[in-house]
Amino acid sequence: MGHEPRFSHSFNEGMASDARLVTSVVIKDCKGVFKGLNSLVDVGGGNGTLAKAIADAFPKLECTVLDLPHVVAGLQGSGNLKFVGGDMFQTIPSTDAVLLKYLLIRRRRNPAKENHGSRNPANMGT
Ligand SMILES: C[S@@+](CC[C@H](N)C(=O)[O-])C[C@H]1O[C@@H](n2cnc3c(N)ncnc32)[C@H](O)[C@@H]1O
Repeated sequence: MGHEPRFSHSFNEGMASDARLVTSVVIKDCKGVFKGLNSLVDVGGGNGTLAKAIADAFPKLECTVLDLPHVVAGLQGSGNLKFVGGDMFQTIPSTDAVLLKYLLIRRRRNPAKENHGSRNPANMGT
């Protein structure tokens, strides 16, 4: 998908549309979940639609969107929202809570890893 910019853009817009739909539910009906948190990372958070809404609703909560570098390239954070480009299988910024929404990840099989480290997150989905 990273090599198909038009498809990538449409996909991200579709995900953002879905995020707008669930945002009101999360903010209105699940606000207790955020109580006591100082920081939150939306892992695979795309263009940050949900994280931005959460950041706006909870101004004291430091929100970070972690997504692949080409997804967050050019996206500007503000106030209590920032974007970090990276691979969640390599590192996730230190945080009080992690948000995972619609992460469907299919990793290629790597026979060399099949007998080793099956509990390693890098092997998830194989
Ligand atoms: C199905 S989309 C969900 C986006 C967002 N969470 C939402 O619900 O609107 C999956 C996201 O995971 C990101 N992603 C896939 N592999 C990743 C990785 N290894 N590290 C970080 N993000 C990744 C994709 O770029 C994409 O934005």
